[in-house]
Amino acid sequence: MKPFDRSIKIAPSILSADFANFGAECRAIEAQGADWVHVDVMDGHFVPNITFGPSTCAAIRKHIKGVMDVHLMIAPVDPYIEAFVKSGADVVTVHAEAGAHLDRSLQLVRSFGAKAGVSLNPSTPASALEFVLDRIDLVLVMTVNPGFGGQSFIDSQVEKVKQLRAMIGDRPIHIEIDGGITPETAPLVAQAGADVLVAGSAVFKGGSVETPEIYGRNISAIRAAAEAARQKFAA
Ligand code: DX5
Ligand code: ZN
Repeated sequence: MKPFDRSIKIAPSILSADFANFGAECRAIEAQGADWVHVDVMDGHFVPNITFGPSTCAAIRKHIKGVMDVHLMIAPVDPYIEAFVKSGADVVTVHAEAGAHLDRSLQLVRSFGAKAGVSLNPSTPASALEFVLDRIDLVLVMTVNPGFGGQSFIDSQVEKVKQLRAMIGDRPIHIEIDGGITPETAPLVAQAGADVLVAGSAVFKGGSVETPEIYGRNISAIRAAAEAARQKFAA
């Protein structure tokens, strides 16, 4: 059996891409080394910002070869899970705070055939996941309050990542981090046990589909910093 992949994976968030050009932006970041494409769905109710829904996800899907990682910042979430899975998402992540019945939401995601993720806001403890660990494929730790790109990393979350890593043990569950990830903050979470790093501003800054090599440089800088921190930790 193939061992579970805990290598560092970089997931650029298209929240920082050109919204009028998602197709080309997705192709550019994948060509420049992105492992996953992170897609932020916001409803103006669960979070104070609005992005887009399942039909946009379905349109984007055609331009992504690898993993489409859909982060739902919406409440209620259950009525929309089927549509997002059918839009072609490989991973659908719901927020633990989005409804009263997290266990049911996670079962729904898997029942339609996607990997199930659960996201924790900065104020939500790791223990919120204690009794759903066997229902999830990924935990997404928010290192900012969700809603906007370009915010500062909240340091207190590093301890939460460590707690989750210990709780997960040998279970095949990814630890993904979202918010304020840069080459400076990536080492902190990589050392604590994270394997998927979402980055919006730090990937797209300075680049465009006309200058995609800048995306490539930004992705490599985050990856190198995270991998170096892991090696140091393992040594
Ligand atoms: C925030 C979103 C993030 C966001 C991260 O609510 O979930 O994915 O795009 O942006 P940066 O990397 O700029 O903090
Ligand atoms: Zn996100």
